[in-house]
Amino acid sequence: MRKKIVAGNWKMNTLVKEGLALASNINDELKNQTLRNEVEVIIAPPFTHLTSVSEVVDNNKISISSQNCATECCGAYTGEISAEMLKNIGCRAVILGHSERRAYYGETSETLIKKTEQVLKNKMTPIFCCGEMLEEREANNHFKIVETQISEALFHLSEEDFANIVIAYEPVWAIGTGVTASKEQAQEMHAHIRTVIKAKYGNTIADNLTILYGGSVKPNNAKEIFSQPDVDGGLIGGASMKAESFIEIIKAI
Ligand code: 13P
Repeated sequence: MRKKIVAGNWKMNTLVKEGLALASNINDELKNQTLRNEVEVIIAPPFTHLTSVSEVVDNNKISISSQNCATECCGAYTGEISAEMLKNIGCRAVILGHSERRAYYGETSETLIKKTEQVLKNKMTPIFCCGEMLEEREANNHFKIVETQISEALFHLSEEDFANIVIAYEPVWAIGTGVTASKEQAQEMHAHIRTVIKAKYGNTIADNLTILYGGSVKPNNAKEIFSQPDVDGGLIGGASMKAESFIEIIKAI
């Protein structure tokens, strides 16, 4: 059975003190829950919080992810943070290619090829984000766009490496807007992604691939989105910034 994941992307929010409070609240709330299914809970705080947050949570229950990493391994790259540095402080995953990074920081498939390589080399999980803009959906290009984002950045990988990827489908029009994709829209895109992966890597890898949905997931819509057969969890922004709503979403799996 493929792994279920609920991941919280904190983006550029909270100072360390608030982040620590949020992380320990999530940790405490989680202790009191008996979750119905095996689900991996991931939180992705800003870089500055990673070390201290990983010290206040039970690392058997909550995995720490960063939101980005450098394209290179080390050296004269002022201001960058390498995958090896993240691994060294206990990160298990790295979010890559979030639409905000593509839109505001010019991340391209070429950048993402390098970042993915760094993350895999350091034995962490790339959470690879993809998703179309509203105009692209309206022009009925959404399947093609998502397929291209995935194939350009990931299809050079060996089967062994690809088996470590997690994909997060995040339609740009649903991020932070309160407009979530309908369960049908999420399911048809996730099924499409799985079909594309199947054609390239075969049934076993495609069937085992965890595909998360992200974009305005809230406690009141998580259950119906997660109930779709090809939706294996969520990448949560706003609603992961409160322990109670994040836990409600985790319970919806
Ligand atoms: P929201 O849940 O706030 O829409 O953000 C989704 C997201 O971008 C997660 O990476």
